[in-house]
Amino acid sequence: MAENFDVKLDSKTYIPDPSYLENSALGDYKKAYAEFLSDPDGFWAEKARELDWIKPWDKVKEWNWPNARWFCGGKLNISANCLDRHVKNGRRNKLALIWKGERGKEEIYTYRQLYRAVMKFANALKELGVQKGDRICLYMPFVPEHVIAMLACVRIGAVHSIVYAGFGADALHSRIKDAEAKIVITADVGIRRGKIVQLRSIVADAVRNSPSVEKIVVLSRERCPIELYSEMEVDFYAIQEGVSEECPPEEMDSEDPLFILYTSGTTGTPKGIVHSSGGYIVGAHYTSKYIFDIKENDVHWCTADPGWITGHSYIVYGPLSVGATVLITETTPDYPDPGIWWSLIEEFGVTIFYTAPTAIRMFMKVGEQWPEKYDLSSLRIIGSVGEPLNPEAFEWYYRVIGRNKCPILDTWWQTETGMHMITTPLGQPMKPGFAGVPIPGVVADVVDKEGNPVPPGQGGLLVIKEPWPAMMRTVYNNPPRYNHYWNQIRDWYTVGDLAVKDEEGYIMVIGRSDDILIVAGHNLGTAEVESALVAHKAVAEAAVIGIPDDLKGQAVKAFVTLRQGFVPSQKLVSELTYHVRMTIGPIAMPSAIEFMDKLPKTRSGKIMRRVLKAKELGVDPGDISTLEE
Ligand code: WTA
Repeated sequence: MAENFDVKLDSKTYIPDPSYLENSALGDYKKAYAEFLSDPDGFWAEKARELDWIKPWDKVKEWNWPNARWFCGGKLNISANCLDRHVKNGRRNKLALIWKGERGKEEIYTYRQLYRAVMKFANALKELGVQKGDRICLYMPFVPEHVIAMLACVRIGAVHSIVYAGFGADALHSRIKDAEAKIVITADVGIRRGKIVQLRSIVADAVRNSPSVEKIVVLSRERCPIELYSEMEVDFYAIQEGVSEECPPEEMDSEDPLFILYTSGTTGTPKGIVHSSGGYIVGAHYTSKYIFDIKENDVHWCTADPGWITGHSYIVYGPLSVGATVLITETTPDYPDPGIWWSLIEEFGVTIFYTAPTAIRMFMKVGEQWPEKYDLSSLRIIGSVGEPLNPEAFEWYYRVIGRNKCPILDTWWQTETGMHMITTPLGQPMKPGFAGVPIPGVVADVVDKEGNPVPPGQGGLLVIKEPWPAMMRTVYNNPPRYNHYWNQIRDWYTVGDLAVKDEEGYIMVIGRSDDILIVAGHNLGTAEVESALVAHKAVAEAAVIGIPDDLKGQAVKAFVTLRQGFVPSQKLVSELTYHVRMTIGPIAMPSAIEFMDKLPKTRSGKIMRRVLKAKELGVDPGDISTLEE
């Protein structure tokens, strides 16, 4: 998409009940923002002091463009902040996790129980030889042990790299290889939409030719002893037998890496986004407390999977660092029926609900009769993340789920930012279609390619102008890819999204400006899908574009030229679709594949996806002077 366009900004404004502002931890937005601007380091130091530090920092930040260090010299442990702190300070018997499985099974963990479970598993990992700084790959179904494994890694200073368990073997392999993971933690099976997914065999495929992997820890999904298939495998619970129940938290430097999380890039290889310990947890804690406004009696439910950044920051680290009760579930929104999520809100009295626009649009389509069957009156705040929340979806979400009273937090942020960056803080007027304003702590703007601010109503590129604690520290094994974020427009962080501001500074995020698709809220590089397609023997070349989709926001369409000896057929379409599914995972499956004799290219041989897209959507392709013919 080009960055020059005009947007008509006539949004209806929704005014929240004044009680939200009165009771919010953040208080008046303008005042909080002015306080931040008058002393940015003081602002962040005050937020950081709400956490437990083994040794306080000497300096809040050191900024050597494009590299930042936060809370320099400070020492802490994130698992101690999420667990020990609460066990000591009156939340020992408070529920930390409520888990609801797809088959209706329930499990609960108090803070004390979670603390003990984490220490035991952390000791088991140590027995396997895991040391501070080692990378551990998690490829797990969403059961409580997923959270336990994350916290156990950070307790001993190991760096987790979580791979969403819907990814296929190739995607898992490349992530294990890039991170040089020493251990892979998985389960025998996962359960999704009533079907068993054989996670263990996917892992077995993925670890071939991965010399770094020493052991595979296998959790039995049904918690029964399991048969081990190879010498590499060990049983998740068997390795905990006889280990010490005490595991003091490892002292971590504020800048020690906390985790790696892979996200799609504009090339075929995903980027390993590295987050640090101190800065990340300050960002996750601050936004959980002051943006989500999590209070002592809240029941917080974020419907993401821990495999995405949303799960890292707003299921695990943020909410647990503030001592919240967190609902976790392995349910999908429409299985066994589209009432399942609303039934869980009623059953557990969920007060803060955080989901994605793609789910909201699915619910709009199936009808209001589903949420109407349930009592949603416990809800206090509802949120959205992952892609633009279009005004129709906003209106529906506000009226049907929020019952015309719950404010909507449409939060804009990224894997790279680690924490919420732009939203409409509680108590502020909400404008459908607009995510909102930069939160206190964040300096953002919409500018042209040269960095000049664009006037209200005119589209431009979204940039962040100042470092923030939860910013990524590097791209694993690839620092130049990190620098690229900071050297496109002046010396600011270019987020890769197009946006527009209104007269009051509200920001509407329109979509990506690069070759990244957001399919059902998940990032997908066109290059990733293309390289999966060309790995198939029938395919000579492939080009992938995003096309509008009512439910998913964007769907994948592929254009393919075939090698000699292959002819287009419906069977081949199915075969290629299946191939992409197995290589990357179901989210990358093309919804349409078109065979072509030739792809449009520039004279220098670059595929012009823009031309394919214009043809597909029946719009003007713009400047095609570089087109080969
Ligand atoms: C998009 C997810 C509009 C955006 C936390 C961003 C959004 C990318 C919103 C990051 C929102 C996320 N409104 N667009 N509220 N939230 N996006 O890394 O394009 O999976 O750059 O992080 O999702 O996706 P990621």
